[in-house]
Amino acid sequence: MKSVITASGIGIPKNVVKNDALAKIMDTSDEWIRTRSGVVERRYADPGEGSAQLGMVAAQQAMSAAGVGTTDIDAVIFATMTPNFYFPGNGPVLQAAMGFPEIPTYDIRQQCSGFLYALDLADTFIQSRKYKRLLVIGADVHTPLMPWNRGWDIALGREDRAATPEEIEFNNRYRDRTVLFGDGAGAVVVEASENGDRGFVASKLYTNGSNMDALYMRGGSHRRPWVSSEQIESGDLIPVMEGREVFKQAVSKMPEAVRAVCAAVNVVVSDIDVLLIHQANLRIVEAVAKQLALPAEKVPHNIERYGNTTAGTLPILYHECVADGTIKPGQLICFTALGSGLHWGAALYRT
Ligand code: ACO
Repeated sequence: MKSVITASGIGIPKNVVKNDALAKIMDTSDEWIRTRSGVVERRYADPGEGSAQLGMVAAQQAMSAAGVGTTDIDAVIFATMTPNFYFPGNGPVLQAAMGFPEIPTYDIRQQCSGFLYALDLADTFIQSRKYKRLLVIGADVHTPLMPWNRGWDIALGREDRAATPEEIEFNNRYRDRTVLFGDGAGAVVVEASENGDRGFVASKLYTNGSNMDALYMRGGSHRRPWVSSEQIESGDLIPVMEGREVFKQAVSKMPEAVRAVCAAVNVVVSDIDVLLIHQANLRIVEAVAKQLALPAEKVPHNIERYGNTTAGTLPILYHECVADGTIKPGQLICFTALGSGLHWGAALYRT
């Protein structure tokens, strides 16, 4: 039994925010952002447009492309770290809004590794013969995590004034991370197939929480109350990121995971035709490719257009690579990601 991706789709918000727009509300520049991260522009979702909404757009596109309707899906796996609600997760939101029957929906939250974990779970369900066809979604909307009350509508061109020195000073405290992120979603339909070589080959997933302080967001059930207006005002709920530490972990753990999954099924790294790597920073993408001795043409990227969309990056990249012919039938694809947790891993897939 093989788990095969039969179709994909994406949900991309319409608002394009270029680096120069962010330079209006903090001390940054297009040159700094491009050279340090590779990001040229990102998309910001509108109010009312959460990860569930973007996920549904992607899901609809993937299901139409697969030629399946809501009654053809056995279960949904939705990966996001930015659900529409604290609870429930996005699964029930999508189930009701898209008119699915009362099928199980799984909400998982492995941040940048979310889609990788979701694919692994889908494959495991199919191998166990519990489900035959799953909808798998990775989506994140980071826009509300920005210090929005500090002039961010100026960056969107919706407020016609200059940012105040106080707003710029506040935004500068978080400029190392806010410039990296964007909003977006991708979805795939994964189906059981008994014929041929196509499908998931193997995966290696890892977690190490001992350095979770490198990338996390405060707030939550250990606090009283879990969120307060003081926390919002002081910037306490803006994600914490030790950029250099995350960078260091990313460029060592992802190559290790890729080597490990290849070794597990006796393929050599150079057999990989396309490496789909989580889009956090173009320098990370290039460093991982170099360590694995994979040429640039085998390691596509789209971070320049979307920034880091967390659980959205791998399915968006997969979709675009299938659409533009970078991914062709019969190839060996490797997905790899690392993100908050830390969670990381790699999965091999034969197209
Ligand atoms: N514009 C201008 N200057 C800036 C900006 C900015 N946006 N951000 C930081 N700087 C300044 C810093 O203040 C610092 O100034 P100083 O030298 O006067 O102190 C200088 O630029 C250099 O800062 P560094 O942090 O050393 O820059 P670095 O080259 O490490 O790049 C970056 C920072 C882009 C954040 C990088 O470390 C990185 O990408 N790390 C990985 C981040 C990542 O992968 N996150 C994953 C999130 S995944 C998830 O699970 C959600």
